[in-house]
Parts: sequence; structure tokens; C-alpha cells
Amino acid sequence: MVPIMRPDAARFRFPPDFLWGASTSAHQVEGGNTNNDWAAWEEAGRVHVPAGLACDHYHRFHEDFDLARNLFHNAHRFSLEWSRIEPEEGRFSDEALQHYREVLEALRARRIEPVVTIHHYTIPRWLAEKGGWDNGEIEQYFIRYVKRVVVAYGDLVRWWITLNEPVVQVFKGWLIGQWPPGRVGDYPRAFQAIRHMLRAHVLAYHAIHEHRPDAMVSVAKHCLALTPNHPHNPFDVISTWSRDFLFNNLFIEALHTGWLALPGQFFERLPFGRTLDFIGINYYTRDFVRNTGLTLPGIVGLSGTLENERKIGKRNGLGWEVYPEGLGHFLRVFRRYKLPLLITENGVPTNDEDDRWGFIHLHLWQVMRAMSAGIPVVGYLYWSLLDNYEWADGYNPKFGLIGVKFATQDRIVRPSARWLADVIEKRSL
Ligand code: FCB
Repeated sequence: MVPIMRPDAARFRFPPDFLWGASTSAHQVEGGNTNNDWAAWEEAGRVHVPAGLACDHYHRFHEDFDLARNLFHNAHRFSLEWSRIEPEEGRFSDEALQHYREVLEALRARRIEPVVTIHHYTIPRWLAEKGGWDNGEIEQYFIRYVKRVVVAYGDLVRWWITLNEPVVQVFKGWLIGQWPPGRVGDYPRAFQAIRHMLRAHVLAYHAIHEHRPDAMVSVAKHCLALTPNHPHNPFDVISTWSRDFLFNNLFIEALHTGWLALPGQFFERLPFGRTLDFIGINYYTRDFVRNTGLTLPGIVGLSGTLENERKIGKRNGLGWEVYPEGLGHFLRVFRRYKLPLLITENGVPTNDEDDRWGFIHLHLWQVMRAMSAGIPVVGYLYWSLLDNYEWADGYNPKFGLIGVKFATQDRIVRPSARWLADVIEKRSL
């Protein structure tokens, strides 16, 4: 049990080297990405709106980083677009490699620490056509791509995220069919994809360290706080436990221990053991779990559905509950790994700046409280720097610290961005 601390907000200071900034991902902000599996998904009419030009960040990154620097950001997370770097199997584009070098140099020139995501959901079309994460060969393709980018950028990048939210990607793409490859309820393939992702991470971890021994490597793990729908119903409680294990713990536990064990699915020692230097945490909300009596194949315990039916707490523009205590919960849970914790995403889609600032403030309070109890949180990266393309939800959700008028590509720095800048400058809430 971690003792409950009552931090004195007036006296608490974030350390001078705390990483402050925001996150983006290539397909959501760059514009003009037509060669990946999400573009194929858009062409197939599987979403209402295609990403199109997005924020045209591919051409406007200098201007966007100037804004970030003026807001006192000292860190920035973004993703490399694999389909630009390797547009055809085995052919690497010098132009794309050079582009991301310029992006990294632009960050360094502004004294902004880059946090680079290697895979943020999208894969090149040629790879999707070979079966993507269903095909075990992806491990070899991934590692070839990783080696290429680590050699290209190792001098400029210390913080690496191999995979963004692997479990969410598999949930959306293999279980509910909302994202590519659009499978529904395909548990055997879902577990296989997870296994390929875990192995790909492990290989990437070692490739990065070979080239840059002091690298900090992790995944960005989506953490979804879960509460039994009826706390006195033992089946709801068991369902919650099993969801929590599958969604929140399995991946990190496997990478930390080097053992990949999922009863009835697989049991193996991952090559080379422990492969996390820190834990990247993406945290947004919580869900309630109601037991449905169904049993997931091969999983001990009963499954449940994720419910929004308990009307507790304020909901954001996408219907997600605002539940800052969940962030505190995960910081305390992950303390056991004795690794630095970096919040790689935390944000809210809203048109109301008081709501956005309330969200940020309450989550930072949880960070401060955890740090006061000795939990090693090393940074906070808000999602997102800019309003952007929110996958199947298109352009309506406004996550940005900086608003974007998509018709003109004008940027509008929002009040909450300035309020956050004050916190960064003062190093206190
Ligand atoms: C996360 C994703 C990110 C963005 C936010 C809102 O799950 O990593 O790309 O869509 O949610």
C-alpha cells in the first residue's frame, strides 16, 4: 500500500529536467499519407472522413515547433511514418529519411527533446497485403525498418517508443472490426497479433540498444481504468480482474519479465528477457465492466462488456468519463517495476477551455501526488499538440492545445495551452 500523501501544492516543484510537452502521430497530423493501411481503409469507405491534408504538419513542423517552444515545451512525441520511409518492400526513401532528420534537428534546435514512436498504428500497404501483424514475418520487416531508422537518427534520439497502444490496436482491429484489418471477434488471430507485436518490440529493443547504448526504450501502453459495474456482483468483479489483466497488465508484465504467458494461448520465453527502460503511459478514462456470462477462449475467468451505463463523473466529447484518479491508480500500480514512468498521452476532446484545463489540472494533481509519494514520473506529454484526425471519429474531436482551422491551416493557441505554459514555467500547479 502506498501511503496517502497530501501534497502541498504551493510547495511542490516539478524537477527542472521534467519532460513537458505534447504528442502527435504521423497519419493524424502530417497530411498526404496515402500509402498505408489506414489510407486503404479510407479508400474502402470504412470511415466517414479521410485524413486528407490533416494539419499539413509535414510541411509546417517548423511553425508548429515554434509554437510549442513558446509554450515552454521541452519535449515532443511524434511518430515516423513507415510507409513514407519504406514505400515499397525493401526500398527505403532517402527523401523521407531526410525529412524526419530535419524534423529532429528542428526539435533539437529549439531545445525540445524528441520522443520518437516507431509504429503508431499504420503500416505500409505492401506489408498489409502480406498479412500485416497476422503474418509472423512482420517481425523481420519491422526489425529491418527499425535498424534503418536507428542508424539514421540514433545521434539525435534517446527516447524511443517501439509500439503505440498495441492492445488497443488489436482490440479495434481484430475484435470489434473498427480499424484495419477489420476482423470481428477473431480471438485466435488477435492473440497471435499480440504475440508478434511483443516479439517485434523485443527485437527492436536490442537493435536500438546496440546502436545507442544509453537509449530509453518502451511502448506507449494504453491504460484503461476499470471498475465492476456492480461491486457486489462477484462475476462483475472477476470480469473486471480478467479485463484488467488482459488490457492493462499482460503486455507490460511480459516485457518486464521476459515471459509471455497467456493460459491456453501461448507460453514462451521471449528472446533476451527484460526489454523496458521506462513505461510509457497513455491514460484517458475508465470503463465499467459488466459480466455477460461469456468465456473468452482459453482465458481463465469470465469476460465482460465495457459499459458506459454508470453515469458517474463528467463525460468528454467522445463520451469518455473524466476520471483523473485512474491516472494516479496506474502510477501506483506501475511503481512495482521500479522504472521511470513517462505519461506519453493524456488529453481531452472538448470545445470548452475550462473543461480542458480542468482535465489537465486534475491529472497533473495526480502526477504531483504520485511524485510526492516517491513514484518516479519523469514527464507529461499532453495529447495532442494540435487538433487532428481522430481515426474513425474524424475531425470533430478537438484534442489540441493548439486549435487548427483546417480550411486555412491557421493555428490558434488555446487558453489552456497558456495555462499549462504557466505551470511549466513555475514548475508548480
Ligand atoms: C490514443 C491514440 C492516439 C489518439 C488518442 C485520442 O489511444 O494513441 O492516436 O487517437 O487516443
